[in-house]
Amino acid sequence: MSRLVVVSNRVAVPGESHAGGLAVGLLGALKERGGVWFGWSGKNVRGESGGLHEQQDGNIRFVTLDLNKRDIDAYYNGFANRTLWPLLHFRLDLVDYDRATREGYRRVNALFAEKLAPMLRDDDTVWIHDYHLIPLGALLRERGIGCKIGFFLHVPMPSADLMQAMPDHARLFSSFYAYDLIGFQTQRDVDRFKSYVRLFGGGRLLDGDDVEAPGGRRFRTAAFPIGIDTELIARQAKAAVSKVAARDLRSSLRGRQLAIGVDRLDYSKGLPERFLGFERYLDRHPDQRGSLTYLQIAPVSRGDVAEYRLLRNQLEQIAGHINGGHAEPDWTPLRYVNQNFAHTTLTGFYRAASVGLVTPLRDGMNLVAKEYVAAQDPDNPGVLVLSLLAGAADEMKEALLVNPHDLDGVADAIATAATMPKPKRVERWQAMMDHLRRNDISHWRRRYLEALAET
Ligand code: G6P
Repeated sequence: MSRLVVVSNRVAVPGESHAGGLAVGLLGALKERGGVWFGWSGKNVRGESGGLHEQQDGNIRFVTLDLNKRDIDAYYNGFANRTLWPLLHFRLDLVDYDRATREGYRRVNALFAEKLAPMLRDDDTVWIHDYHLIPLGALLRERGIGCKIGFFLHVPMPSADLMQAMPDHARLFSSFYAYDLIGFQTQRDVDRFKSYVRLFGGGRLLDGDDVEAPGGRRFRTAAFPIGIDTELIARQAKAAVSKVAARDLRSSLRGRQLAIGVDRLDYSKGLPERFLGFERYLDRHPDQRGSLTYLQIAPVSRGDVAEYRLLRNQLEQIAGHINGGHAEPDWTPLRYVNQNFAHTTLTGFYRAASVGLVTPLRDGMNLVAKEYVAAQDPDNPGVLVLSLLAGAADEMKEALLVNPHDLDGVADAIATAATMPKPKRVERWQAMMDHLRRNDISHWRRRYLEALAET
């Protein structure tokens, strides 16, 4: 089996970051085959970008690259997170397009290619992840790299007309054509990508999953819905629920039910709408008054980007308004927490919650939805309220599916979830859990890597 080289903007260097679902999955693939994980060090250095750090852990070599402030501002805070992120989440209104950050994004991708190319062997398999690094495959090809190179997009692919609205879209999106396999979260993402290729990308759709780029190069594209480490999370949640953090949370509820949301503080997650949906629930269901507390955990994310700071202010205002209008001396309906928690602690919180609220306005997949389900007590599971506009909704049909823009619908789904009889809860949970067991993270990476090997 060829050596695997994983490339992503963030790297789960041992001892440095929380190993989330994705990191665990990629780490598993790397352990299985041995290989290299390459990406940004997360550091903001003085002087030139390009310094490398190396660390060996078993058969995996972690190599990370330093960037300076100018490059981080243009590449990460700029083009990746103020142009591509909103565009890929269907938010044309928030897209900030600027030629200088576009060039910075290219410059950093070229730096990734320059540093990575000399480390590669002819029979390596390179697997590049997410919107930060779309042109990297083409930049590696320019440097003579001929091995298999695959790409996986973790976020949604928007419709062709939205992609076309980005100035100079063809230059960026035609760099997709250098890959051997492009993976998306859902079939609808694949279809939207194909329609871009056909309408604006100058390519031709062939039979099955094959696409012909202008000039004749062929590549493959398909859906590989990402999973979680289902068994591990179920085990962790069972253990975490009796630990101090979850016990304290439960006793603080004083017998009330808990609804939980856990999201990065990001406008794609639909948090203002969810808060307002919860307020609508309080207004529309006075019979349930005081029986449920909603805990929203929202760690600050991308705090140097203006839109994210604005969102934070907005949420503080709405949370204050809701509690001001509805709280009682001994009850705060909404607990809004920006603190980050260890992943295992969160699994205990999920298990303590009888309602899981996952209502993004757009999401490639959403692993919190899957983790919430995997963390439940099989004998007394909670109910997942899930946005139709998350990739996870394609698989989790037994959740209570809502349109996050419909506040009354969200309000009623919370009320239904909070009062659903146990046999119904168990039946819905079991169906979703069976699916999550069959389609876990190792299934995802094996399917992807097998498909890449077959190209
Ligand atoms: C999304 C993206 C990931 C990214 C993560 C956290 O899930 O798809 O690529 O790593 O958000 O965002 P951050 O900007 O902190 O890396």
